[in-house]
Amino acid sequence: MAKMEVKTSLLDDMIGVGDMVLLEPLNEDSFINNLKKRFDHNEVYTYIGSVVISINPYRSLPIYTPEKVEEYRNRNFYELSPHIFALSDEAYRSLRDQDKDQCILITGESGAGKTEASKLVMSYVAAVCGKGAEVNQVKEQLLQSNPVLEAFGNAKTVRNDNSSRFGKYMDIEFDFKGDPLGGVISNYLLEKSRVVKQPRGERNFHIFYQILSGASEEFLCKLKLERDFSRYNYLGLDSARVNGVDDASNFRTVRNAMQIVGFMDHETQSVFEVVAAVLKLGNIEFKPESRANGLDESKIKDKNELKEICELTGIDQSVLERAFSFRTVEAKQEKVSTTLNVAQAYYARDALAKNLYSRLFSWLVTRINESIKAQTKVRKKVMGVLDIYGFEIFEDNSFEQFIINYCNEKLQQIFIELTLKEEQEEYIREGIEWTHIEYFNNAIICDLIENNQTGILAMLDEECLRPGTVTDDTFLEKLNQVCATHQHFESRMSKCSRFLNDTSLPHSCFRIQHYAGKVLYQVEGFVDKNNDLLYRDLSQAMWKANHSLIKALFPEGNPAKINLKRPPTAGSQFKASVATLMKNLQTKNPNYIRCIKPNDKKAAHIFNEALVCHQIRYLGLLENVRVRRAGYAFRQPYEPCLERYKMLCKQTWPHWRGPARAGVEVLFNELRIPEEEFSFGRSKIFIRNPRTLFKLEDLRKQRLEDLATLIGKIYRGWKCRTRFLLMKKCQVVIASWYRRYAQQKKYQKIKSSAITVQSYIRGWKARKLLRELKHLKRCNEAATVIAAYWHGTQARRELKRLKEEARRKHAVAVIWAYWLGLKVRREYRKFFRANAGRKIYEFTLQRLMQKYFLEMKNKMPSLSPIDKNWPARPYLFLDSTHKELKRIFHLWRCKKYRDQFTDQQKLIYEEKLEASELFKDKKALYPASVGQPFQGAYLEISENPKYKKLKDAVDEKIIIAEVVNKINRANGKAASRIFLLTKNNVLLADQKSGTIKSEVPLGDVTKVSMSSQNDGFFAVHLKEGSEAASKGDFLLSSDHLIEMATKLYRTTLSQTKQKLNIEISDEFLVQFKQDKVCVKFIQGSQKNGNIPTCKRKNNRLLEVAVP
Ligand SMILES: Nc1ncnc2c1ncn2[C@@H]1O[C@H](COP(=O)(O)OP(=O)(O)O)[C@@H](O)[C@H]1O
Ligand SMILES: [Mg+2]
Repeated sequence: MAKMEVKTSLLDDMIGVGDMVLLEPLNEDSFINNLKKRFDHNEVYTYIGSVVISINPYRSLPIYTPEKVEEYRNRNFYELSPHIFALSDEAYRSLRDQDKDQCILITGESGAGKTEASKLVMSYVAAVCGKGAEVNQVKEQLLQSNPVLEAFGNAKTVRNDNSSRFGKYMDIEFDFKGDPLGGVISNYLLEKSRVVKQPRGERNFHIFYQILSGASEEFLCKLKLERDFSRYNYLGLDSARVNGVDDASNFRTVRNAMQIVGFMDHETQSVFEVVAAVLKLGNIEFKPESRANGLDESKIKDKNELKEICELTGIDQSVLERAFSFRTVEAKQEKVSTTLNVAQAYYARDALAKNLYSRLFSWLVTRINESIKAQTKVRKKVMGVLDIYGFEIFEDNSFEQFIINYCNEKLQQIFIELTLKEEQEEYIREGIEWTHIEYFNNAIICDLIENNQTGILAMLDEECLRPGTVTDDTFLEKLNQVCATHQHFESRMSKCSRFLNDTSLPHSCFRIQHYAGKVLYQVEGFVDKNNDLLYRDLSQAMWKANHSLIKALFPEGNPAKINLKRPPTAGSQFKASVATLMKNLQTKNPNYIRCIKPNDKKAAHIFNEALVCHQIRYLGLLENVRVRRAGYAFRQPYEPCLERYKMLCKQTWPHWRGPARAGVEVLFNELRIPEEEFSFGRSKIFIRNPRTLFKLEDLRKQRLEDLATLIGKIYRGWKCRTRFLLMKKCQVVIASWYRRYAQQKKYQKIKSSAITVQSYIRGWKARKLLRELKHLKRCNEAATVIAAYWHGTQARRELKRLKEEARRKHAVAVIWAYWLGLKVRREYRKFFRANAGRKIYEFTLQRLMQKYFLEMKNKMPSLSPIDKNWPARPYLFLDSTHKELKRIFHLWRCKKYRDQFTDQQKLIYEEKLEASELFKDKKALYPASVGQPFQGAYLEISENPKYKKLKDAVDEKIIIAEVVNKINRANGKAASRIFLLTKNNVLLADQKSGTIKSEVPLGDVTKVSMSSQNDGFFAVHLKEGSEAASKGDFLLSSDHLIEMATKLYRTTLSQTKQKLNIEISDEFLVQFKQDKVCVKFIQGSQKNGNIPTCKRKNNRLLEVAVP
């Protein structure tokens, strides 16, 4: 795809001339030819400076695509070929960037494309302004208000299939960023007469047809409507369908739009109920009925329709019926009720329908405003879009056309004011050289209509308020009187004879030469329409409706709020609102779109030169071009101009000190702008050519970029410097802190070193001092010691002297005593007996003995025989006595101890004593037996049933019953036997069976042998030749050897009066039958614990190893 060439000027690829200012030569023909040429090439837009001329193409052109929007976005006005988007962009940008409120004034005849143009402007602004969910919703609501208002306010006319039958001015509000915040719509005078009657070839408002075509059966039924258009009197039949218009789908669009705008379901429902009620009102018909008093009275023909209306709107049927039949007039607290004739009834019906509809329309606008109004209270920038009904000339022109055309007059006026007149006046004011350009100023026409005293509207009001019979004819008469001389007023009846013979001017009409042409107005209906009367009975009936919307539409029907003052007339209301509008527009920066209709056939490709020529003339476009060409494209007071461009010149940047004008002069000289391109006015600079302005703008843009770079550079430099300074400061702080720290450290080190050195020195000093002190102390001590020694020596010497002295004294005393004794003895010797010394000795001895015994008495030890204590001997000479005394005392206390014994105990101790005599210091086993009581009967022979047989066999008293081991002489092994000792016998019995193996009378026992060691072996030797001896001696061992031997000894002694021989030897012979075997006891190992083992060594030797 070839890359699209980027246009940088509207001169590129130009068809004809894009800007009429550049047209050469400039005359009407060339102007029209240029338009035609461009129109034929699908260029429907042409500029006159900043004004856009738009020719209705009557077909859709591909010049409104999103790509086109992007193309025109943020581009200079003259950069691209003329387009409505360029104007929209210019307006939006100067609103956003220069904070200037804007208005877009769209003018032109009906069908010239004003409404379309306004929608294009809105859609362009919506496309280029801010985005985001909230903003998009606002945009959507603003855009969707159009279909709703068009459905209710537009209709097909002969000039336009979608003609706006109301004036609309919409303020779109933006925030400082240029994002839309909301909007306010003002509506101007709906052409409500259309509701009840349409001219030939025209339709009622779209919504009626849309409901009937588009609503579902169910919805229609709810509204009590039928789909057939012909059922309704209010719908003009001849052109119910419009080519290319799909009412049904439009209905859906409208409902959807209502929803988007924010209508609640119940609101939508109410709106359609009112629409249905209006439609059905047209079907109520009246018939005359003569009354007795001769007054005509009307009656409703078919009450069915009335009933349905009442059901739909919740109005009491009787109330409405009465309102259609009577009229109550209140004057000075008096109520007068008159009947209505048929014509009056029809009038009342139509008035009600018109009022219902037009009030509904105003309500819709209010309701939409409620939805789209800006939510914030911040300052808003405003862009107003004015789409007012275009200039209209019909066959029959009535009050509505009069009003519409008046409005267009006013708009033309404001255009003239702002572009032609104002411009030229400004040149003069500013002292710019200027040749005046003639143009037609329509102020005179405006004055004809709106003059407060002589204006047509003022007279109409006067006529309406005048008491007495007022008709349209009386109004015309009045006009004829007052305006007859006015240049633009024409009437046949006027006194001025100019038109007396003008047949084109009927008697019941007047004609006004509007700026856009002559219009003939039928005077019929003017008074009525201006009065806009609705009988009070009807408004009261409406107020009583059980339908919140209808009730709200007729607030004056509330009997509590009866207002006897007449409401303002339609004309004066309109005049006032137009005046407000004009005032509003004057505060804003105007942008013009002048729409031109190429033909009357609503057809594409047809360019009717005569028609276009007519429009160009009355729109004053040629004059517009002339003024433009002669003048300057752009002007601006010096101050803002200098402010805007001062950065383009060194002298003026950044500040110019001096008058702004001089600054601008310097600036322009510096920029080398050719002198013919600009002029200096008194307070403004005038720039002839837009191109110069654009050059300035481009330079400014360039410079701003440079400045931005510069600012960025300086800012970055500043930032870096600030950062550097901060870092430097930080560095200094850190360094100082560090130095402080380092010095501190150093100081501490020196301090601690000093302290160390100091402490060493102190230590050294202290030690030195200590040494000295010690030395001193030692010296002192030595002195003390020496002193002490000295004193000691002195003392000892003294003591020795004293002792010597004492000894000497003693010796003296002794010698003295001896000498005295000697002297005494010598003297008394002759008196002493020879044995006196012996007596003194004995006496002394006696005395000592006495003392000894008395002391012993107190020192006696205890009476226990085993107490070994005995007091020490006091005198040596009593040694033997002392020992003897000890022995005697021991014997005595033993005797005392024995005396305590019972006979039994005595026997036991006798036995023990016997054992002691027999074995003490002989047998090693003995000491272990001392502590063991001798029990004798270890086996309980008499009690234990096991030994019953044994007991039966032995009838004597058993002294010993004990198990012993009998040593087998063959191998030295032991076998258990029961050993019994009775008074007369020794018995051995089998341990298990109790059978007596051997029985030896005590008399046959000759000897018992045993070792000296710690074993229980013993041999019982038998008398040779005795019966028992045939089996040989017994070699036995027992744990109770000492007891057994002792008892055996004692028993034998008591029985046989012979001492049993007990041999204690480590080697003895035992007689086994024929052989004598030697039993030898040796010291054995401790292999089997402490048990002695017996082994046969040979035929003659049994060796017992004792551990
Ligand atoms: N720019 C346009 N492109 C295509 N058709 C247009 C354009 N402007 C107007 N029309 C056609 O002309 C008709 C009348 O335009 P409209 O804006 O309603 O006229 P006005 O509001 O001036 O009475 C529109 O219904 C449309 O068919
Ligand atoms: Mg329109």
